[in-house]
Amino acid sequence: MILVTNNEGTHGVPTTARLLAEGVPALDAIEAGIRLIEDNETVYTVGRGGWPNLLGEVELDASMMDGDTLRTAAIASLKGYLHPFTVARKMMELLPHEILVDEGARLFAKEVGAEAGETLLPHAKAAWDNWYAKEVSDEDKRNWPNVPLAPLCRHAIDPEIGKDTTVFLVQDKNGSICVGTSTSGWGWKYPGRLGDCPIIGAGSYADSRYGAAACTGAGEMSIRTGAARSVVLYMKMGMTVEEAVHEAASDMEALKGGLISRITIHAIDTKGNHEVVAVNGIENSYWLWTDSLPEPVVRPAEIRPLASAANPRETAAFKFGKQL
Ligand code: GLY
Repeated sequence: MILVTNNEGTHGVPTTARLLAEGVPALDAIEAGIRLIEDNETVYTVGRGGWPNLLGEVELDASMMDGDTLRTAAIASLKGYLHPFTVARKMMELLPHEILVDEGARLFAKEVGAEAGETLLPHAKAAWDNWYAKEVSDEDKRNWPNVPLAPLCRHAIDPEIGKDTTVFLVQDKNGSICVGTSTSGWGWKYPGRLGDCPIIGAGSYADSRYGAAACTGAGEMSIRTGAARSVVLYMKMGMTVEEAVHEAASDMEALKGGLISRITIHAIDTKGNHEVVAVNGIENSYWLWTDSLPEPVVRPAEIRPLASAANPRETAAFKFGKQL
């Protein structure tokens, strides 16, 4: 058994590890952990308390993949509900679909009795109000929200204002490998922007025959390289988990133009091995638990500088800003 989660997973990892040790199946153990993070007000990139979009609305994304069946479930741009991961799980059970977005996701959440609630918490509202006061012109304030939002995206982009996710990669006692993700996406994103969290193959992928992968950070990059699916495919083609993650990191380093920013690739194989590489040159850590460890431990991610991004903070804001 193995569990890997990123640093956003701190509040859920003890629960998921305990459940796995008790023999609970992978997706149930992942859901229990992710719900705790979605509930935690101090995690500003997942669930309630997450950063809002440019219009000051919190849009939540979540996904999962069952590596036994290769069923997936993703919910995207969900507003007004507290647990997108659970809504996605219900969708996997009840619908023949793999992705639901925005109004459809909201309709389905209501239909299955998902917990509705306020997701824009005071710290996030205060930060948005402050941004609005400083960055939006008087003329745009008069016409708000019927104004061009794209120019405002430029001022909003700050890699320090998270575009993180929580990701859980698990192999349970039966050998089933599953992955789960949840996020509020990129703070001050253009409304409706999806990162990699609800895009299976980009932000996550699991196949119990080979392993699983999941990404955190700038989802634009993993979408462009199909990162998570690539890692699992590279393992299928014979690479070790370490080689597969580094190959996927090289794919990102070959990207040209667009948003170039930080991303961390996490992966596990079927034999209890794992690899976590931060493609950005910034320190990052993750949680690891295996059945030979009494409790989860923090490990530093291997750091791989992005060749084209000497200063990721500057590059992300600068390159994208220049495009607009
Ligand atoms: N990886 C999270 C996002 O890009 O939204």
